[in-house]
Amino acid sequence: MKDVYILAIESSCDETSIAIVKNGKEVISLATSTQMKTHASFGGVVPEIASRMHTENFTFVLEECLNKSSVGMDMVDAIAVTYKPGLLGSLLVGVEFAKTLSYVYNKPLIKVNHLIGHIYANALENDLKFPLLALVVSGGHTELVIMDDDYKFKTLGATLDDAIGEAYDKVARVLGIPYPGGPGIDRLASTGKNTYDLPHPVMDDTYNFSYSGLKSSIINLVHNEKQRGNEINQADLACSFQTVAVDELCRKVGIALKNTGIKDVIVAGGVSANSYLREQIAKTCEAYEANLSVPKLLYCTDNAAMIGAAAYPLYLKQEFADFNLNAESQANIG
Ligand code: KG4
Ligand code: ZN
Repeated sequence: MKDVYILAIESSCDETSIAIVKNGKEVISLATSTQMKTHASFGGVVPEIASRMHTENFTFVLEECLNKSSVGMDMVDAIAVTYKPGLLGSLLVGVEFAKTLSYVYNKPLIKVNHLIGHIYANALENDLKFPLLALVVSGGHTELVIMDDDYKFKTLGATLDDAIGEAYDKVARVLGIPYPGGPGIDRLASTGKNTYDLPHPVMDDTYNFSYSGLKSSIINLVHNEKQRGNEINQADLACSFQTVAVDELCRKVGIALKNTGIKDVIVAGGVSANSYLREQIAKTCEAYEANLSVPKLLYCTDNAAMIGAAAYPLYLKQEFADFNLNAESQANIG
């Protein structure tokens, strides 16, 4: 079969990213411009600034991606783009840029759900083996999903309130760790001990998650201790938070493995970069004799290579979008 080259575009939040991916698994070229430093000074992503910066950056990122690539536009078979979920303005810039490339170069357009992109980041390492259990943990989502085949999803559970990444970012903020807080908490926690007694998220036997209670208890604890003039051991608090938050993810994955008998697990989304999660989920999978796949660190957080991987099965099914394609801010998997 002829090789398929997909030029993929990602701009759902604060990374402007373009990749060329061969056959859904080989990254030929990837260029990403991150706006992290700009948003860090505001303590979080400012949507209006994010879309403006995407507008300024896209042509340069495309140029860099093509310069690094052995494959030119003439060899590209399709243009893929993230169209949901994310910041509406940011998504719109990417979608319009993709439509323009699709029109000018006369290539079919493929629309990709960002969360499904995170799942397919794992296909950049190894072929996905079905059925599999996917734990999707990002800034906006915490979902446990069964995948029976390409694009065949069954959601077991999701967060009832805050996403785990959001909890990381809010806890980081109250501890004075700059945005995005996840990597900062990860580093700090590795130097601390699990000494704080924090409330555990909903300990029921559904597959749902809840992180707002844990987050609020930490915010209150920090404020109360400050008012009393007491010192907080930041590393211990970060470690205690991370232990409760991640252990709950692993516990639910364990229950799902036990109940379904599934033997393949993948982790997806920005929080999959977390070192404690990577360590603990490996132990859970070992206990249930399941195989584990986690993306390379480079493909854990937002990037266009994963969008190229997720677009490939759609290309094979010739599922193309037309120029009426619009962006959508809200979406789950599927
Ligand atoms: O998938 P992602 O890049 O963007 C969304 O689609 O939301 O995820 C971003 C989230 C942020 O909440 C960030 O703090 C978190 O992933 N994150 C981490 C780590 N690296 C990124 N959380 C914990 N530990 C990390 N090492
Ligand atoms: Zn993401």
